[in-house]
Amino acid sequence: MTDTITIRRPDDWHVHFRDGAMLQSAVPFTARQFRRAIVMPNLVPPVTTVDAARAYRDRISMAVPDGIDFEPLMTAYLTDTIDAGELARGAEEGVFTAVKLYPAGATTNSDSGVTDLKKVTDVLECMQAVGLPLLLHGEVTDPEVDIFDREARFIEQKLIGLRADFPELKVVFEHATTKDAVDYVLSQDSHMGCTITAHHLVINRTDIFKGGIRPHLYCLPIAKREVHRQALRAAATSGDKRFFLGTDTAPHPVHEKESDCGCAGIFSAPTAMQVYTQVFDEAGALDKLEAFASINGPGFYGLAVNEGTVTLVRDVVEVPERVETAEGEIVMVFRPDAGLNWRIMA
Ligand code: NCD
Ligand code: ZN
Repeated sequence: MTDTITIRRPDDWHVHFRDGAMLQSAVPFTARQFRRAIVMPNLVPPVTTVDAARAYRDRISMAVPDGIDFEPLMTAYLTDTIDAGELARGAEEGVFTAVKLYPAGATTNSDSGVTDLKKVTDVLECMQAVGLPLLLHGEVTDPEVDIFDREARFIEQKLIGLRADFPELKVVFEHATTKDAVDYVLSQDSHMGCTITAHHLVINRTDIFKGGIRPHLYCLPIAKREVHRQALRAAATSGDKRFFLGTDTAPHPVHEKESDCGCAGIFSAPTAMQVYTQVFDEAGALDKLEAFASINGPGFYGLAVNEGTVTLVRDVVEVPERVETAEGEIVMVFRPDAGLNWRIMA
């Protein structure tokens, strides 16, 4: 049995830091685990300009604990009316690493999202030309479509057409939750990438109702049936270059989760690498962890892999159940019910 594993320093290709007091609390957790992170732009108001992204990047950097080398990679929030020139300039100036597409109404803070892909044709053309990746929240928003089918419908109704129209555009299918997404990504060329969260490798939809309704396991896209979790585990642990680590860590104050209309999002930053390592260990695939966590992501984005390493040790660990922010808000931390038996060596 392998009891320690050392890999090149990993990156997190999908993170929500929020702003203000929540940002101050969230950033250190990610910065302690990852060397870089793709930062989601779904603030209120959303990050749509180069200036806003630069200022947000500065606020994040200020929240990184002393002595930790962490680089936030910024994204722009695609709206119906965003200016293609602004995105191109942001890419040129090294501020925007990617652009995030939220279908309007799909998830937390997506009201300003895209209502119709046709409205952003010129923007997508520009992104394809300058090599700026498009990151997708891949769910349709039609309220008639069953919530568990929204990802699969997005592939049929939106993604296939999008890829046909922009074959050279780099596209990431973010936080995949279905076998449909895995199979689709596997059928595509190297312009297509896919992130997989730690929690979707651990929970299925039944877990959300285990012993009662569990608001802290509610996120979007929502966890699906066990067959889908198994497909995600197979994809992540395969070593295939198209799949890489993206936690979608998304903190919300407890009172906004434990409510009659609780919001979507799981906060996994404090436990992410431990959970991923545990999943790879269970799959007998620890030798593929480095590809998923540290190699495939930079490969897709055309960035260098990180210097330095991190070591994880098999150990029974106590995980803090909750984290408190400077404003007194409490956020629950994602942990597998069965506990965690890997820790990051200091
Ligand atoms: C995210 C959030 O809270 O910002 N929520 C979530 O359930 N994943 C938004 C998102 O990525 O969908
Ligand atoms: Zn997200």
